[in-house]
Amino acid sequence: MMTSNRKPKVWASFDPPESVIDYLSENLDLSYNATGELATHEMIHAKLGDAEGLFVTLRDMVDEDLLNEAPNLKVVSNLAVGYDNVDVKAASKKGIWVTNTPGVLTEATADLAWALLFAVARRIPEGDRMVRDGSYTGWRHNLLLGTELSGKTLGIWGGGRIGQAIGRRGLGFNMRIIYNNRSRKEEFERENNAQFVEFDELLQRSDFLVLAMPLNSDTANQIGRAEFEQMKRSAFLINIARGGLIREDEMIAVLKEQRIAGAGLDVYVDTTGIGAKLGDLDHVVLTPHIGSATHETRRQMALMASRNLVDALHGREPENAVNRKAIYESNIPRNGVRNLISV
Ligand code: NAP
Ligand code: GLV
Repeated sequence: MMTSNRKPKVWASFDPPESVIDYLSENLDLSYNATGELATHEMIHAKLGDAEGLFVTLRDMVDEDLLNEAPNLKVVSNLAVGYDNVDVKAASKKGIWVTNTPGVLTEATADLAWALLFAVARRIPEGDRMVRDGSYTGWRHNLLLGTELSGKTLGIWGGGRIGQAIGRRGLGFNMRIIYNNRSRKEEFERENNAQFVEFDELLQRSDFLVLAMPLNSDTANQIGRAEFEQMKRSAFLINIARGGLIREDEMIAVLKEQRIAGAGLDVYVDTTGIGAKLGDLDHVVLTPHIGSATHETRRQMALMASRNLVDALHGREPENAVNRKAIYESNIPRNGVRNLISV
């Protein structure tokens, strides 16, 4: 617990939104990367010696080497629900809280999955381009025929908050919902007439396969050519989770061959090269990782992530710790964790 009025030192790898700057500054000794660019290695390392808190985004890799150079660190607050960019195991061993922003971005991200699904199924970007470039000259019976949703099978890999929110929307479009996850979600099944299926069956039956699984050592690279070969030729892939679930080079090859009907992608392994690799494929719709990018959601994410920081650095358990159990088990007194256990 803090015993003086000294404010804990926090460094943010980005410029925190205006809506939380006052709150952060009142409670913390805040400095941040104001360049508007991704923080450089040098920039991060210059701050690590002093920092008690790090406020990061999903683009910042918080690995064991970095944590080893931060002797005073007590909390890493990630401005995202996914935390595959943070070595949680290494942080936990050092008694460092790792926090995320669950729940507040669920509906926005599910909406984006559906926006991609509609866009690719009904060829919206192609139509937009056609009207703008003057090649649209009037209604034709065979112009831009797409794929109907009603009566089709929506397959979801991942049965968490976002996976379920995507499934709930499917019911409204008269789709059959199937999903695969490591645990069954019985209420979701009951309320949405959803069916739990094994992973291979998910691949084989889905007309639209939506990925909503976190990226970790169990889920990385689980979809590649062999999995695409199991899918219907008429199926569409939608990925709003993380690029690393898919072997990206194999996906690109499969899309070029039109082995599946198309894809809507918000996330990538190689963000810089992907536009050039997929840019001329009309049956692929690309967005730049904007799943949670609404004004409302980003405000709530910023507030949640800021509260996590402030609480952790003022001796309170942060509400959204992803390593609560490990932290308690580590029982490291340096960060005041023992004090927390005894309250
Ligand atoms: P969540 O509620 O934690 O759901 C994750 C689901 O994955 C849970 O149902 C979990 O199963 C399941 N799962 C299966 N195998 C797993 C394993 N080995 N490790 C961990 N979980 C496993 O997460 P969410 O809020 O739905 O978010 C899902 C992911 O979406 C995030 O991790 C993030 O990568 C991505 N995302 C992307 C955007 C975007 O902008 N495109 C926005 C938000 C999130 P149990 O229920 O059995 O635990
Ligand atoms: C975004 O991708 C998130 O994980 O919040």
